[in-house]
Amino acid sequence: MAACKLQGTIVRNQFIEKKVAPKERNSAVVQAVVTRDKFNVKIPQLATTYTPLPFTIPLIEKAKEIIVETEDTTSAGKFGRFGGKFVPETLVVCFNQLEAEFKNALHDDVFQAELATALRDYVGRETPLYHAQRLSEHYKSKNGGKGPEIYLKREDLNHTGSHKMNNALAQAMIAKRIGLKSVVTATGSGHHGLATAAACAKLALECTVFMAAKDMDRQSSNVRLMKLLGAKVEAVNGCFKDASSEAFRCWVGDLENSYHLSGSAVGPHPCPTMVREFQSVIGKETRKQAWEKWGGKPDIIVASVGTGSNALGMFHEFLSDTDVRLIGVEAAGLGLESGKHSSTLTKGEMGVYHGAISYLLQDGDGQIIEPHSIAAGMEYPGVGPELSFLKESGRAEFCVATDEEALDAYERLCKLEGIFPSLEAAHALAILDKVVPTLPNDNIKVVVNCSGRGDKDADIVFNCRK
Ligand SMILES: Cc1ncc(COP(=O)(O)O)c(C=O)c1O
Repeated sequence: MAACKLQGTIVRNQFIEKKVAPKERNSAVVQAVVTRDKFNVKIPQLATTYTPLPFTIPLIEKAKEIIVETEDTTSAGKFGRFGGKFVPETLVVCFNQLEAEFKNALHDDVFQAELATALRDYVGRETPLYHAQRLSEHYKSKNGGKGPEIYLKREDLNHTGSHKMNNALAQAMIAKRIGLKSVVTATGSGHHGLATAAACAKLALECTVFMAAKDMDRQSSNVRLMKLLGAKVEAVNGCFKDASSEAFRCWVGDLENSYHLSGSAVGPHPCPTMVREFQSVIGKETRKQAWEKWGGKPDIIVASVGTGSNALGMFHEFLSDTDVRLIGVEAAGLGLESGKHSSTLTKGEMGVYHGAISYLLQDGDGQIIEPHSIAAGMEYPGVGPELSFLKESGRAEFCVATDEEALDAYERLCKLEGIFPSLEAAHALAILDKVVPTLPNDNIKVVVNCSGRGDKDADIVFNCRK
C-alpha cells in the first residue's frame, strides 16, 4: 500500500493539494509546505523556551510525519503551524531521547514482531468491522427506506475496552526497552489509565495514574479495576487537564526512573506523533476489512474527538484518499452557547498549552476556559496539533454533539444492536442523526469508530434517564 501522500501548500489558511507523481508515492510522507504570515500565538500557561530541532530532519516513511517547511526553519513535530515542543530547555533532551527511542522501535523488526503478537494475543486484534444492520434500518425507516449502510469499528472489543490499549501497550513496551522501572500517566474516562495499568502489570512496570477526583467518582468502575491491576491512582483537583499537568510534574521529578506514557494526541513532540502512529492500526485494519466486505473504501468515516487519538487512528490511513469524508465530532456539552462544552476545534483559538500549539478554549487573556462534557474523556480544553491542521487544511470536517444527543445515541445503540458504546463513542454515533439526512441515497458506506465500551457509563445514563 502506498504511504500517505498528502502534499500541498497552505496559503492564507487554505490547503492546496500538490499532485504527487506515481513513482514518488511509495516513499512519500505526509508533507505540507506552509507559507505563513507572522501569527499571534497566545502563550497562556507553561510559558517556556521553544527550542527548534536541528535543520536536517530525514523524511521517515514509517512515522509519516507532517514535515513543515516554513520560511525560516524546518522542524519535526509540526503540522502546518501547529505542534512543536514548547518545553523548558532542561526537558528538551528528554523529548529528543524519547523521539530517538520511538524511531528505533519503529524500525526494529524484533520490536514490531513483539508488538504485533501482543496486539493479536493480548489485546485481541484485529477488531471486527461490524455491519450495524438494525441501526442502518433505523435511519432508512426515517428516510423513505433509503439510507447508508452503517458499520462500527469495534475498538470497544479490545482488551480493557477501548482503543487506548493500542498505544498504551506499545509505549509500555518502549518504557521497558529503555530500561525504566515505572510509568506515570493521566486519564480522564479511565480507559487510558486502565489500559496502561494492564500493560504495566503484563510488563512488570510500576504504574501511577493521575485522575481528577470528579472523574474518579463518575468513572469509579475503571478506578477499581486500575487498582486491582496494581496501579496507584492519585486524585487531582480539577479535570483531566489538571491530571495531565500533575502527571507531567510527577515525571519531571523522577526522570531517571520513570516514563511519561501519553494516551492523548496532545503534548510536545513526539507525543502526538507516537500516539497517532500506535493508533493508526485502526484505520489500516478498516481499509483491509472494507475491501474484504464490499470491495471498496468507506465513503464516510466518523470518530469522536477528545484530544484526537481515536480519530487520528482512524483518519490517518485515509488522509490521501480524498474521496473518503472524514468527520470528527466534538462534545458540545450543554450547548455551544452555554459556554459549557469541549468544542475546541469549533470554538477555540490558536494557543500554546501542554507543550504544543493547537486550537484551545481560552479567554481574551489567553487563560484556559474550563471544558465540560458528560463524557469524561472528551473534557479537555485543547486538541492535538495534527487534528488542528486537518481542520485548517479542510481535509477533515468537525461538528458537535451535545450531552443529550450522546445520551440518546448511547441508548439507541443498546436497544438496536445490543452494544454499549462509551459516552465518548456515543458522540460519534449521535452525529448520524444530522449527517444521514444530507446523504445521497445510493449505496453509501459509513464507518463509525466505536472507540470504547460503555459499561463505565451505565450509571450516568441510568441516572440521567430515570
Ligand atoms: C473510549 C474513548 N473514546 C474516545 C476518547 C476521546 O479521546 P481521544 O480523542 O484521544 O480518542 C476517550 C478518552 O478518554 C475514550 O476513553
